[in-house]
Parts: sequence; structure tokens; C-alpha cells
Amino acid sequence: VTTAEITVLDNDTYGNGDPNTFGLPLDQYDWLREHAPVYLQEFDNPLLLDRVWVLSRYADVEAVDRTPEIWACDEATVNIWKVAPIVPKKMAEEIGFGKPAMLMMDGDDHRRNRGVVSRAFTPPVVKKLEARFRDYARQTIDAALAQDGAFNFVDVVAHQMPLQALGDVLGVPEADRAQFFAWVDKFASPFDERVTPSFELVAQSILALLDYAIDLRDMRRANPGDDVMSKIVQASAEETLSEDEVMGNVALLASGAAESTRSALSHAMHQLLLEPEKMAWMREHADDIPSAAVQEILRVSSPFIHFVRTAKQDVELHGQTIAKGEQVAILFASANFDPEVFENPRTFDPTRDPNPHFTFGKGPHSCLGKHVAALEIKLLLEELLQRTSAIRRAGETSYVRDVFSRGVFELPVTMTPA
Ligand code: HEM
Repeated sequence: VTTAEITVLDNDTYGNGDPNTFGLPLDQYDWLREHAPVYLQEFDNPLLLDRVWVLSRYADVEAVDRTPEIWACDEATVNIWKVAPIVPKKMAEEIGFGKPAMLMMDGDDHRRNRGVVSRAFTPPVVKKLEARFRDYARQTIDAALAQDGAFNFVDVVAHQMPLQALGDVLGVPEADRAQFFAWVDKFASPFDERVTPSFELVAQSILALLDYAIDLRDMRRANPGDDVMSKIVQASAEETLSEDEVMGNVALLASGAAESTRSALSHAMHQLLLEPEKMAWMREHADDIPSAAVQEILRVSSPFIHFVRTAKQDVELHGQTIAKGEQVAILFASANFDPEVFENPRTFDPTRDPNPHFTFGKGPHSCLGKHVAALEIKLLLEELLQRTSAIRRAGETSYVRDVFSRGVFELPVTMTPA
């Protein structure tokens, strides 16, 4: 690898990912960590930032993620795209598009927004979701077993459960779900024309979903439950979320919760099909998939490849100066394969323990839905492995063309019932 060959922030790198290295450019990550841990990437594309410093070592990714006093979330977009459904408040005013969500906030605004929304993610609330999630898993496997011949695992198995789970978490009534899911699906992968044919369609869906967020708020006010929107309407006067924040946080959930979980499930199945002895191990544990296995799935699937932060002061790092106001791209996916932290990082080891993977982040923004996502993965794999005697590959795995949220596009399989 040489500098000229570094394409770690290029959609095509992930669209053409190597199925034998989890779809990730692991050689490039290794090279960057070793030779250029602070690597300058410039872009010549009006849709992207002009330039970012790429940080690839686990220790640096962690230091940035944990230190919002130096590395701001509220100054630039969440990733290298200049236009996104969620943007910092000051950008929203400037570009006239996008709403503020907690992921793009720091300090008091972040604490207030996260404080309210996190009430829908407490252990007792997540526990209550389990029975419903188990039903979704059963229905999904029913549908998979009813398929005639080969089918795409991503669409038939991995797709539905994360959407339904998001509907539950957010408090979307059954009657609205089909429409809600259709909007949420349009959030996925704006740079892959097979997923979203045009930016106009994406924008229409986003605007419709933002309007719906306000309808949903009014519905939950009249009829509250344990969900995020109910917690939002029940917030005290000092905590109240503005209408823009309500919309922004709904857009955040729409863009962050479903597709990522779908990707993790799909990358997991790809890897199990590639390594039959690991599939056999999982089958032996199908009654109660261990947490270590789920966490290892989350490590190797690394659904979010990078996040962006802005330096609030000049920072010296590994001989480079990152000037105040410049952006860094922290490569979560590279952190997850850093040999300084993970022994044999390229080995998918479902018994790996400890496993301090970076998939959900570690700082003040660390994923609020991490227990929800882990529960979905566990239940779906349990139902799947209990109710099939064999799952086989029926074609090549291909990936979504996306440098931020990396999905599997196609994973053709056949299944034999137990
Ligand atoms: C495998 C699936 C998922 C992955 C990989 C994932 C990953 C992430 C990551 C990397 C962050 C930012 C962390 C940071 O900057 O340190 C995040 C934030 C967040 N996630 Fe997830 N997530 C997943 C599923 C979910 C689900 C299912 C929900 C909710 C139902 C959810 C809700 C959120 C929220 C609300 C935030 C913003 C937290 C904040 O800004 O304080 N995520 N997630």
C-alpha cells in the first residue's frame, strides 16, 4: 500500500469490498495505522467536505470520541457528506435543510436531548421489548421458510426486524408502520443508486418523515407509553425539546437505528456462511446465543465506518498539526481491527473476551440503542438457527456503495427447515 492507494473514504472501496476481509479495506487500515496515523484526505466534490484528517488508531479514535471539549460534534456534519438530514443547528439555518439531533450537539443541549430520549432505553424498558422482538423474529423466519428456492437474506431476514424494533422504540402505531418504514428505507445509502434512485426521492422522504414526527408527538401526547416520543412529550418544562429537535432526533433514529442493525445481521450471516465451523459453533449455542458472540458480530460488522469531528483548538498529533476549525474523520472500522487492542483482529472469534469493540462509540455520544440492537441480533439468530437445519450460500455477497453506513446489498441463500 502507498499513499496513492489510500481510498478509505471512497464509496466504491466499500461497494467493491472484499468478502474475505469482512468487506473492509483492512490492508489499507493496517498501513495507515502504522505509517500515517494522521492522514490528510482531500476531496474535490461539492457534496463532500473539502478535506479531513483521517485517524485510524484505536487510541486516537477513542481519545477524540471521548473529548468533545476539543473535538466538537456541533460544528460540522456527522460524516464527510456536506448535506444530511441531521446537521448542527447553526448549519441548518445556513443551508436551509436538516434538523438538529443529539448526535450533532455538545454540552447542555446534548445533555438535555440525550437525558430525555435515554428514558426510553432503560433496562426495564428494553426488557419489555423482548417478547415483541421474539415475535418479530418468529414472523421473519416464517417468511424466510416460506420462500421458494434461493432468496436475498438481506431483504427477507435482516430487513424487517430492525424496522419493527424502531417502530416500537419510537412509538409508531401499527397502522402507520408501512408508510413509516418506506420513509426510513429511503434514508439508507443516498450514494447507491440501487438503494435510492435519486436525491429528490430521498429529500421527499426526509421531509415527509419530519412532518410525521410532529404528528407522532401529538398522538403520543394523547396516548403515552414507554417509547421515545412519549418520553419526549413527558419531559419537564426545563427539558422540553423544541419542534426542530423533535424532528431531528426522529431523523437521527431513522438514519441510525434500522439500517445499522440490518447490516450487522447481514455481515454476520455472510461470515458464518464463509466459516462453517463457526456456523456449527453458533448452532450448538442456538438456545441462548452468548453475548460474546453478538459483540464479536458487532466488531467485525462495524456498520458505521467513520464519524467526523471539528477541532476546537490547534492539536499536535503524531507530528502533524490539526488546526482549529479543521475536521477529523475517526475510522471506527479501523479501530475495530487495531492489533494493539485485538489479538488476531482478522479472526472472527465468537468467544472473544474481553472485546472492547468501537462499534457503538465510547464517548458521551455512545449509542443509546446498543442493548436494543444486541437483543435484536441475538433473538433473530436464535430463531433462525433453531428453525433451520442448514443455510447455504446461493451466490456471491455484494455490498452497498457507502463510505458511512456499510450495508450488504445481496447475500443469496437457501434454507432447509429443521
Ligand atoms: C448495530 C446497530 C447500531 C450501531 C452499529 C450503532 C452505532 C452508533 C454509533 C457509532 C453512534 C455514535 C457514537 C459516538 O459518536 O460515540 C450511535 C449513536 C446513537 N445511536 Fe446507535 N447504533 C446502532 C443501533 C441503534 C439503535 C437500534 C438505536 C435506537 C433504537 C440507536 C440509537 C442511537 C442514538 C439515539 C444515538 C445518538 C446518541 C448521542 O448522540 O448521544 N442506535 N449509534
